Amino acid sequence: MIDSRSERPLPTHLGIIMDGNGRWAERRGLPRTAGHERGAEVVHAVVRACRERGIPFVTLYAFSHLNWGRPRREVEALMDLLPRFLDDSVEELHELGVRLRVAGEVDDLPPRLQGPIATACARTAGGEAMTLTLALSYGARRDVVQAMRNIAVAVRAGTLLPEQIDEELLRGELQTAGLPDLDLVIRTAGEMRLSDFLMLEAAHAELYFTDAFWPDFDDTELDRALGAYARRVRRFGGVTPMVDAAERRSRSRIG
Ligand code: IPE
Ligand code: IPE
Ligand code: MG
Repeated sequence: MIDSRSERPLPTHLGIIMDGNGRWAERRGLPRTAGHERGAEVVHAVVRACRERGIPFVTLYAFSHLNWGRPRREVEALMDLLPRFLDDSVEELHELGVRLRVAGEVDDLPPRLQGPIATACARTAGGEAMTLTLALSYGARRDVVQAMRNIAVAVRAGTLLPEQIDEELLRGELQTAGLPDLDLVIRTAGEMRLSDFLMLEAAHAELYFTDAFWPDFDDTELDRALGAYARRVRRFGGVTPMVDAAERRSRSRIG
């Protein structure tokens, strides 16, 4: 999509792999959990900034399926942080017109989290300005496996023919059903990998990496990433001529 103010391309769906909370804290001689706390504050600010910039879909990788393997105290601290985050933000999200949803194996989260998650999703269900998806206990490959199981059940029941299975059907079975493909994935803390984040949905996404730790990520960092995205030439397998961003901007004004 095109940003109506700057006329620059803006991602319709932005994904962020929020990494580096632990290192941010360790560098300060603080416990890793202090990094997660600061990271949660940054989530509030970045959600607001994305909303202000008019990005309609934002998905944040908050806790991966593999993160269950971290030391028990760190996992517990993260699980304590989530209801606090929801409690602190749900009214603001509602006011901003942000609809909250979750992707991942939410049933694996502690029972005490189930209520606050359901309440926050219900409270914000009418939000039309932006959809914020939290990937929690999420793993892309597990999601694909689950989708395949659902499809296999339908085939076995005779309600679906194998030749009716196509990309659209598969996408509809994923936990991200209804969300558009990712246009831009930002990863912080200098790591250049996807770590099982929305892999099918990121098939054609632009990837952007910054050395900043997530607790240091701010509006300037966000705008830098969006600026880089605006200058990328997306081809989707085609042969778009090499044009620079200025030329593309003027084209979008004419067209
Ligand atoms: C990201 O920060 C937050 C989660 C994965 C929950 P990390 O905790 O992975 O921070 P580093 O990578 O150890 O610095
Ligand atoms: C990915 O970060 C998961 C989240 C940001 C929630 P990790 O820190 O867990 O990923 P790896 O272990 O470096 O791949
Ligand atoms: Mg990490």
